[in-house]
Amino acid sequence: MTKLAVLGGDPIRTEGYPKWPIFDEQEIMAVTRTIQTGRWGGAPFPGPQTAEFAEKFSELQGGGYAVPMMNGSITMEVAMRAAGIGWGDEVIVPAYTFQATASAPMAAGAIPVFVDIDPETYCVDPSRVEEAITPKTKAIFVVHIASQMVDMDAIMEIAQKYNLVVVEDSAHAHGARWRGMGAGTIGDFGSFSLQSWKSLTTGEGGVLLCKDKHMADRAASIIDCGRPKDADGQEFTFGVNYRWSELHAALGLVALERFPKQFEEREAMADYLEESLSEVPGIRMLKRDLRQTRRNLYRYVIKIDPEFFHCKNETFCYALSNEGIPVDTGYPPMNRYDLFKPTLSKLPVPSAFPEYFDFESMTFPDADRAYSSEAVWMGESIFRSGQEGIDDLVSGLVKLGKCQDQLATIEASRKEMI
Ligand SMILES: Cc1ncc(COP(=O)(O)O)c(C=O)c1O
Repeated sequence: MTKLAVLGGDPIRTEGYPKWPIFDEQEIMAVTRTIQTGRWGGAPFPGPQTAEFAEKFSELQGGGYAVPMMNGSITMEVAMRAAGIGWGDEVIVPAYTFQATASAPMAAGAIPVFVDIDPETYCVDPSRVEEAITPKTKAIFVVHIASQMVDMDAIMEIAQKYNLVVVEDSAHAHGARWRGMGAGTIGDFGSFSLQSWKSLTTGEGGVLLCKDKHMADRAASIIDCGRPKDADGQEFTFGVNYRWSELHAALGLVALERFPKQFEEREAMADYLEESLSEVPGIRMLKRDLRQTRRNLYRYVIKIDPEFFHCKNETFCYALSNEGIPVDTGYPPMNRYDLFKPTLSKLPVPSAFPEYFDFESMTFPDADRAYSSEAVWMGESIFRSGQEGIDDLVSGLVKLGKCQDQLATIEASRKEMI
């Protein structure tokens, strides 16, 4: 009888998946050279390598004025400040995302209004976005997740109709394209993270892509203690120091060189995976919108049929991870987010607007179903492990399909433990 590894059987894969980030002499030399120049920090902003990175990053995404900064959270806060959105303004945020998409606009004083996702794509549902608009709404945040992109045609139409600013949280979407247009270049702002796990990384870092040069000048001013960045040197802003260092930029220039090959490799392996996935019982792929012309495989997400496997995704992920294939259940919906407790933030926003932060009364059935029963998230490294790594993933899925009774037993015992 096939026995699950978690119950003492042989695991499918023992060698793990490739580590990330990867590096060699190029990164070591780039940092060493920067140390030798004595120009380590970010001031005056932008430093020469930061400026070069900004130009090349806009080229990679195919547009926009790029302002590199410390991370991919403050990028969104800065976007709000640059656009003059803040105290008491409502911004629409998907219920299914990392907490920064909500906490960053809150830090600028804005109130996040959460909306549910499209259950077929796991990206925000544009019709629900439109339903949530009120006279106080000033911006729409969308998040490209699960290697998918949000329906940007629908979002831009809504934004134009109601005159709203669009921020694309593209922390997962480096290199991705919607009808040939780069993620982060379609809305007014594109926010990117370069944090260690991201598919283009410098350890820490972020880039704000701005459609408008004036917004880019204001963003650069806000992150450089408010110093003017406009051509006349006249426009001061209420700024802080979120400058990016030249040491990070040095790593970034190497990362940009490596990126196209890594991107193609992951994309090709995702295609290879999908050829097999359609035949694996109990597994469904998210619906692909063919208007998305390139996808970045940072996180790939499949859906399981809990009835078929006799368990929900938490038990499934536990069992598959024990087979040597690391997977997880992904983001909780915003009203259940452990990291995101607005009443603990000491920001004035939650206490001044308690009606918006009644998390008990919020329901996001589709985000909730994804998180608590169907979604299985996997990382980019699986897509850098060659066909053998993908074959192991598929074997793991097939194995779990043959072990439904064992999965049911594990689920029951885990429930007892809780
Ligand atoms: C969707 C999303 N948005 C924003 C962020 C924030 O990026 P950073 O960690 O660089 O602040 C992340 C990072 O994990 C993310 O996944």
